[in-house]
Amino acid sequence: GKYRVVSTKAMPGTRWINLLIEQDCRVEICTQKKTILSVEDIIALMGDKCDGVIGQLTEDWGETLFSALSRAGGKAFSNMAVGYNNVDVNAATKYGVAVGNTPGVLTETTAELAASLSLAAARRIVEADEFMRAGLYDGWLPQLFVGNLLKGQTVGVIGAGRIGSAYARMMVEGFKMNLIYYDLYQSTRLEKFVTGMSGSSVKIYQLLTLILMLICFLFAAYGQFLKANGEQPVTWKRASSMNEVLQEADVEAILINCSRGPVVDEVALVEHLKANPMFRVGLDVFEDEPYMKPGLADMKNAIVVPHIASASKWTREGMATLAALNVLGKIKGYPIWSDPNRVAPFLDENSPPPA
Ligand code: GLV
Ligand code: GLV
Repeated sequence: GKYRVVSTKAMPGTRWINLLIEQDCRVEICTQKKTILSVEDIIALMGDKCDGVIGQLTEDWGETLFSALSRAGGKAFSNMAVGYNNVDVNAATKYGVAVGNTPGVLTETTAELAASLSLAAARRIVEADEFMRAGLYDGWLPQLFVGNLLKGQTVGVIGAGRIGSAYARMMVEGFKMNLIYYDLYQSTRLEKFVTGMSGSSVKIYQLLTLILMLICFLFAAYGQFLKANGEQPVTWKRASSMNEVLQEADVEAILINCSRGPVVDEVALVEHLKANPMFRVGLDVFEDEPYMKPGLADMKNAIVVPHIASASKWTREGMATLAALNVLGKIKGYPIWSDPNRVAPFLDENSPPPA
């Protein structure tokens, strides 16, 4: 191959590799056993000739890596993720590197995990499973693992983009929940699912007092989001008003986070879970991922999973393919693929994208 494309991780399926090989690329996949590569590891991997890189959300793509990629002749980088808070796009631009991400292919899969966490939290599935396996079930009881009915309750969605809207559709159409949402902008995408719904201006405080369920998707402008609500400006890294927000939360609310860990103050959350045993949480992401704050793992009213929201076979293969197409497109001089509103057109006919 004329071009050298590096992937920092082995990725599912073979389609992404074949696409690159067919288009004159040599593909090199990192063979290191460690889960998270350091900046130094990645510089070594890129070497002195590298045309494009497919990287992961665990990696710190900033000034150092983009300047190294540029020195190696690289012009393209794609995150194998829809989120790109690990990527300094300004630094990439400065070094002439185009950046792609993988929207669209993970929408339904991620929303389904959010729905799974919502149901599991409402019906205390994980606690009940642990109880059963521990041999504690000694007969049916009227008060055993009583949870909450979703039907007729209100679900609040923060971040009404593709994923938030798909989740809203599932909860409204599937479980007949009422819907409120918060976003910086009015979302016709989401409002389409609810007859008579219009206007979005619900403040985050109101959202938490009113609702049974909260799904929280991070959008890049999270700091802006709090500011828009009259909060003191916060950085992306720190949602410092979370304590106050939680104070206002309904004692039987459920909080789901399938966005990025730092939108929730996890220490404040642990305190809140301790003080309110009927408040439940389903977390796919953590403030100091892969670590959990002390105490969280002991909370019966918390369900925790290791950042698996996009982990369906169809989606992960789609993400790998889209990431490869992003890099390939730039190398070959096509526009970068990952347009936020485009559904990836490239998957096999026998595995059609969700309708
Ligand atoms: C996963 O968190 C992603 O951003 O794709
Ligand atoms: C429960 O199993 C019932 O029959 O109500």
